[in-house]
Amino acid sequence: MTVRNILIHPDPRLKKVCPPVAQITPELRTLADDMLQTMYDAPGIGLAAPQVGELVRLIVMDCIKEEGAAPRPLILFNPEITWTSEDTNIYDEGCLSIPDQYAEVERPAEVKVRWLDADGAPQQEHFDGLWATCVQHEIDHINGKLFIDHLKPLKRQMITRRMQKLKRERARA
Ligand code: NI
Repeated sequence: MTVRNILIHPDPRLKKVCPPVAQITPELRTLADDMLQTMYDAPGIGLAAPQVGELVRLIVMDCIKEEGAAPRPLILFNPEITWTSEDTNIYDEGCLSIPDQYAEVERPAEVKVRWLDADGAPQQEHFDGLWATCVQHEIDHINGKLFIDHLKPLKRQMITRRMQKLKRERARA
């Protein structure tokens, strides 16, 4: 498995609506494994394919955070939200494409999601807590949307300027 380079906002590839996967090829399975490796390495709890420059509907997640608990890597091709609760939750969200920036985002507290796993088998799950927030954040990514797009314009612009500065500094280094 390979740790891939994570794109930093702003990048046009992070603003694209990604097309669905027609067939889960060995290349796409490798991409999913690389994305999990990249996510654990970061470390993060979720990653979407466009964040590594691949414009396909694929996300990976593992929201197990307890020290010593068994990991639960999930690979979701073509994930679809089929139900959202009326109850909402507010989490202080961050993103591997927007390093060290956090802001509160309100989202449905529970969601039902269906997807295809790495073997192409249909899966469905009812997510709550951090998992629900994470899966919505990652599905936003494959629709070209970032968590800062949920914020007020001023706050979003402030974070975007910080990221532009960070990218300039990294380019010079
Ligand atoms: Ni993100």
